[in-house]
Amino acid sequence: MPGPKTVVFGTRLGFYLAAIGSAFGLGNLWRFPYVVAENGGGAFVLLYLALVFLLGMPIMIAELALGKISKGSLSPALSKLIGERYMVRDIREKSAVLPPLVKWFMRHLGTLSMMITVVVLAYYAVISGWVLHFFMQLVVSLFNPAHFEPGGALAVLLKNGWLQLLLTSVHLMTVAVIVAKDLEFGLEKWVGYVMPMFGVLLLVLAFHSLRLDTATEALRFLFYPDFSKLTLASLGQAIGHVFFTLSVGFGTMVTFGSYLREKVYIPMAGFRVSMMDSVISLWAGVMIFPLVIIGGQQFAGPELLFQTVPHLLEGLPWGLWFGVAFFLCLYLASLGASIGLFETVVANWREVRRVPRPRAASTIAILCFIISVGPALSTNVLSDVKIGERNLLQFFDSALINWCLPITALLISQAVIWTLKHELVEAEFVSEEQPSGRKIYRHWVFLLRFIVTPVVVAGLVLQLISLF
Ligand code: PFF
Repeated sequence: MPGPKTVVFGTRLGFYLAAIGSAFGLGNLWRFPYVVAENGGGAFVLLYLALVFLLGMPIMIAELALGKISKGSLSPALSKLIGERYMVRDIREKSAVLPPLVKWFMRHLGTLSMMITVVVLAYYAVISGWVLHFFMQLVVSLFNPAHFEPGGALAVLLKNGWLQLLLTSVHLMTVAVIVAKDLEFGLEKWVGYVMPMFGVLLLVLAFHSLRLDTATEALRFLFYPDFSKLTLASLGQAIGHVFFTLSVGFGTMVTFGSYLREKVYIPMAGFRVSMMDSVISLWAGVMIFPLVIIGGQQFAGPELLFQTVPHLLEGLPWGLWFGVAFFLCLYLASLGASIGLFETVVANWREVRRVPRPRAASTIAILCFIISVGPALSTNVLSDVKIGERNLLQFFDSALINWCLPITALLISQAVIWTLKHELVEAEFVSEEQPSGRKIYRHWVFLLRFIVTPVVVAGLVLQLISLF
């Protein structure tokens, strides 16, 4: 059996495409608008943008550095950090021994993170199934335009749990086959084609939205910060969303870092991926909010994207064709992101236990499918099951992203900054071609040591208070 590590990114572009492919997904188009709508608009957007650069980007750099230095995914990387003296920074003079409690935490952090990744993958697959449904509905409507009725397509889907399970399983099988066959590193190329195409589509749709009467009001809602609209839970929700959209806290960026060749400058990679991801989210907001305002309070929650975009298409010449292209691109984006999540779990498992790829992939796919039953049936068979105000899908989304993810992202980042030998990390920042690297390194250390922990803890505590 070949060793677990069989891949490296052949080119810098290949790495960027895979990292952007993983960051860019349903988080930008599906989740961002509805979380912004729930949190009152402009002030939340501002908070989100500040947190991307204060928390998300530094943690992404930390994860990439951990992977690149250890040449392993999260679990093996943390084991190396515990066990190998060359990686551990001197905590006490001349000794590189970590206290037993810290070791215990680090040993289990990888497992915790993988559990979260599997559950996120499961409900992500349900929403990917929704995208697939809209794509297919629009393709059929090309031949029979009378078939397309924006509200109808969503209602049919939400009422039909079995259809959702079928679509979820199709999505999970596609992802599992791609990862089992080790195809994703060839497929990173299609991200290169899809991204620019999607960029152009979003531009066209957003410009169309900006011509609606509600555009000014929408822009004001999105960009004028009215801090009185923030709630106690807003900070925690913004933190969670930043980590989700940048794919940090899952170990994905550690795995990608481990596939990196020497030449990629990690701080710049972190900056570029964060920047692009934020621009796409804002653009999605510009496209969707004029329609949200037209719909009044009617459009809200996880269905927001699927309620608004079809209405946008109705008013557009060639709307059905745009719709097909939009949902195709969105599906490919969610496929890329799902592959990132799936590959992370497979890579961790293989590196720790050396299981064959196909076995790892099929086991994870089955596990995800079982977990997805709850969210897929949450709007129909299980619609009476509520946790607080939320149905099962909303509960999964909120518990994982607003609570679990901030905790794992925080712990991973603190493991890197407090235990990884700093000469090794500094070497990733400072080089002859990067004279300002030392300064960037100092800022990065400051953010991770003194900003990330208090902000994340404050977010979690405020969220906790908001529950009572
Ligand atoms: N960042 C993705 C999104 O915004 O949809 C979600 C995601 C993908 C998280 C891949 C983690 C990951 F490994």
